[in-house]
Amino acid sequence: MRLNKCWRAMLLWCALPNLALAAYPDMQEEIATQPKAADMHYFTPRDLSRIPNGAFGDKVRKGYELFVNTQQLKGRYVGNTLNCTNCHLDAGTKAYAAPMWAAYLAYPAFRKKDNRVNNFAERIQGCFNYSMNGKAPAIDSPELVAMSAYSYWLLMGGLLDMFGMQDKPVPELNDQQLQLGGKDETFSLPGPLAGRVKMAGREHMPGRAFATLAEPPQAASPSRGQQVYSQHCAVCHGDQGQGREMAGVPVLPALWGPQSYNWGAGMHRVNTAATFIFENMPLGKGVQLSVQQAWDVAAFMNSRERPQDPRFDGDLSNTAKKFHGSDQGYYGKSVEGELLGSQAFPAGIQP
Ligand code: HEC
Ligand code: HEC
Repeated sequence: MRLNKCWRAMLLWCALPNLALAAYPDMQEEIATQPKAADMHYFTPRDLSRIPNGAFGDKVRKGYELFVNTQQLKGRYVGNTLNCTNCHLDAGTKAYAAPMWAAYLAYPAFRKKDNRVNNFAERIQGCFNYSMNGKAPAIDSPELVAMSAYSYWLLMGGLLDMFGMQDKPVPELNDQQLQLGGKDETFSLPGPLAGRVKMAGREHMPGRAFATLAEPPQAASPSRGQQVYSQHCAVCHGDQGQGREMAGVPVLPALWGPQSYNWGAGMHRVNTAATFIFENMPLGKGVQLSVQQAWDVAAFMNSRERPQDPRFDGDLSNTAKKFHGSDQGYYGKSVEGELLGSQAFPAGIQP
């Protein structure tokens, strides 16, 4: 029964028109949101207890550990108090919180942010530089190989299960293959999967990235958002959005200020934050704010100062024009008399 539903979801996804192929490489900096249907069934990765023993399994396990406790890289590659799993919820497995299984299948992809094709490991580097306000590990570093291995394992294990190959172990890939991602032409799909998982549509797995959220009835308002924040968010994230630490260990993530994501991160955009918040926050009680509240609180959170965009060239309006021309963020704009980006905090890791 469950398998049947999975098949339906899978066929729906495989039946997407060939448009996606024509558009490859996809010209999107901002990952397109995915429509959410009431009867949608999502991909289920294997239980972590099925990660195999041996060298390959060790890489996958290491990737998981880095993903949930990225703070072990603090100071070296991480410049704030966040962990990957703070945004990619449930260790990167939750649909509509940019899950890693869907992401893995979507790369390599064209990325306007750096104007070139990014493979999967390079996309992870992006989140180190912006979301983690840090400095990304090298592409062939053990850290990026491990995080790529974990993401690949989530995808491939779930795919094998979905097609009735529950007993089949996830085929091992070498380090170079792991970095590429599942949309590479050389990506190998075992047996019956090969004909099923079409190249077109690989970037559109249901549940990828974030769910499409309706436009707010009224333009998003930081001041209305402040009220939403005090009522629904401050209890966990703090009056100053600073999050909370216990015995020196961050337990609740910072939403703005020096320990949060920087001005170049995807989450700094009001639309991206609004869809994330609507679906996932308050934690454990997602989809309870109104659409208007989600936009307003996203506007409030993203109109406070945070660490500088690493691409800052010394001139705020120039940097804003060059990199934030059409995005729905407040970088270089004035809110309540404050020019955002002008008092930005320094990079978390000094060059
Ligand atoms: C502050 C929140 C946040 C943190 C922390 C974060 N990310 Fe992300 N990540 C995002 C957002 C938002 C996007 C989508 C960006 C966009 O639309 O431009 C994203 C996208 C991605 C993608 C591409 C997803 C896709 O479907 O294409 C990968 C892979 C990724 N992040 C990996 C990581 C890893 C690994 C870490 C930890 C080192 C991390 N992220 C930390 C917010 C975050
Ligand atoms: C019950 C406590 C709780 C409440 C209330 C709550 N959050 Fe969160 N929030 C969390 C936790 C915990 C995480 C990290 C999740 C994880 O690591 O699994 C998180 C993650 C986030 C993130 C991504 C990480 C980051 O630092 O950027 C954002 C954005 C966010 N919350 C915004 C909000 C907003 C806005 C509200 C109010 C509408 C809210 N949260 C209410 C606990 C809470």
